[in-house]
Amino acid sequence: MPNLIILEEKEILAQGLDVSKLPNQEIMKNYFFDDELEMLQQLAKIEHTFSTSEVTLLYPGCGADILTPLLYLEKISPRVGKVRMVCVDISDSFKLMKTILHEVGVTFADIKEAEKKVKRRGEEVVEERVVERIQFYWKGILMELYFHQQNIARFLHEFASFDIYFEKCFRIMKDRMPEYETVIYDKLAQGGLVISDSGFSQVGLEKIEVDSKLSAYGEMIMGRKK
Ligand SMILES: C[S@@+](CC[C@H](N)C(=O)[O-])C[C@H]1O[C@@H](n2cnc3c(N)ncnc32)[C@H](O)[C@@H]1O
Repeated sequence: MPNLIILEEKEILAQGLDVSKLPNQEIMKNYFFDDELEMLQQLAKIEHTFSTSEVTLLYPGCGADILTPLLYLEKISPRVGKVRMVCVDISDSFKLMKTILHEVGVTFADIKEAEKKVKRRGEEVVEERVVERIQFYWKGILMELYFHQQNIARFLHEFASFDIYFEKCFRIMKDRMPEYETVIYDKLAQGGLVISDSGFSQVGLEKIEVDSKLSAYGEMIMGRKK
């Protein structure tokens, strides 16, 4: 019987960036099924060199899953210095993500900035909205997390490029979007990395060996764009 994962959203006050705050291993177990966490922690190093020390990661259909991509990121060698993690989901799970981070013992800084966007549909409309992001350290990696409550198909129209594409439990959703994986591959930067628990066998990635058991579908894939 798999264990039960209980997610309860709480109002968490930002306590600021603190590189010394490390995630509590025991509490992290509350957010994974059975031996999933152990398997992820035993993952071999992912040997991959990016051309910059600061990279962008895209995670569509993230739900509240903030921890899994972090466990993969900490395995990348050489270490990445800073990651701009862009999470996209049609449901708003940003508060839940902040709660999980807080519960595992990692503090974060909250940054809110006004953004002006010019929309042209007949006449020009200037739309102003507040964009929130949080910053935290994950085992020495400076993370900058953006959450967009949007359909990934629409989001991709305006999102230029990314260095890492991360996907988990999104197979049924992407199957409804024709050409989804080709669009992702085209937008992935040269030398970029795909980490996904389904698909991407046909887009021309240079495969990196990985245990298929890391995917609930048994089709874990890791690969780089040459
Ligand atoms: C099965 S859950 C997986 C959540 C997370 N990746 C995990 O492994 O725990 C699928 C997620 O995809 C989101 N979703 C479904 N269709 C979407 C779309 N077109 N664009 C963005 N998110 C979508 C849902 O709201 C849900 O959070």
